[in-house]
Amino acid sequence: MKDLYVKDLEDLIEKPIESVFVVAKAEARHRKTGERYLVVVLSDRTGKIEGTVFDNVEVLEPILTRGQVVRIRGQVGLYQNAPRVRIHAASVVEEYDMTDLIPSSPHDIPSMFYEVQSLLNTLQNPYLRELVAVLFEDTEFVEKLKKAPAAIRYHHNYMGGLLEHTLNLLRLANVVAATYPSVDRDLLLVGALLHDIGKIDEYTLFPVIEQTDEGRLLGHILMGYERVQKAMDRVRERKGDFPEELRLRLLHLILSHHGELAKGSPVEPRTLEAQILHFLDYLDSRVWMFEEAAQHPTEPGARWSEYWKPLSRSVFIGGMEENSPASSPDFHMDLSEPPRPSSSSEEGPTSHPSDKEGLFG
Ligand SMILES: [Fe+2]
Ligand SMILES: [Fe+2]
Repeated sequence: MKDLYVKDLEDLIEKPIESVFVVAKAEARHRKTGERYLVVVLSDRTGKIEGTVFDNVEVLEPILTRGQVVRIRGQVGLYQNAPRVRIHAASVVEEYDMTDLIPSSPHDIPSMFYEVQSLLNTLQNPYLRELVAVLFEDTEFVEKLKKAPAAIRYHHNYMGGLLEHTLNLLRLANVVAATYPSVDRDLLLVGALLHDIGKIDEYTLFPVIEQTDEGRLLGHILMGYERVQKAMDRVRERKGDFPEELRLRLLHLILSHHGELAKGSPVEPRTLEAQILHFLDYLDSRVWMFEEAAQHPTEPGARWSEYWKPLSRSVFIGGMEENSPASSPDFHMDLSEPPRPSSSSEEGPTSHPSDKEGLFG
């Protein structure tokens, strides 16, 4: 484990530092005097920080290349109110712990994977059960599913991100299927599992998350479609059959999950399960974006987030924790019994003031 992380550096202004980072970006620039200098971005599992090289540029430039793991010696300074490392020395590092250097899901990967398996164990359809078995027998597939990111930037963009997003969709699919009996639960759950499965080959994870050539040229929808086609062929070999309509319905879930042609889906949702899957996918990514925006107030303690590009808006954070009963350590909501309707005819069935105005339909 390294002993100094990016998040620690803001407390070390004007102090010398030494630690291991990934070079996430490297760029040569010229000063007005014509001298070359380097601007790099250093990253580890806690974040990113900019660094500059003004001395020994010729020596350090071939070391500070994008994706290289390097040991840096330098000094932290402030530039436009943000900490920045002035790099004095850098050397290539051969041995390191990958988990120190890339961000990871806040949730435990083995626990998430266990829950994914538990939910899939409830499938009834023998062909879909076999399909999942075929996929999960492939240890390389399982390792990739556990570690892959779900995106470069916009949501769940860290190790285990795809698994976290997939588990969220499986949980939601489970609840939605229990709410609407007309939904084919097995199909929706397997769609939740497989909708983004092409992402296991669309992105690299280490040293930086970026699209592979295949990802850039084909995209995860087509890549997922192909992988699931092949898995269905294996099921057909083993069971002697794979129902044609089931095949079409499942492939349709993968192809239509972005919801619109303009968002990369070659077809729009044309089954109930496909429409629901698209909404759940959208829901989970938007929740992540709102949570992430709320982590970035304009300044510490501010009631509004920075302008958040993925949402094209800033988000209200507020300060409810200061006066809300829910945040009081003494506050306890008893969830053991459902709330009883009020007997007062004037108040209506609940006492929520906004209900009188029909806000909740
Ligand atoms: Fe997707
Ligand atoms: Fe997704």
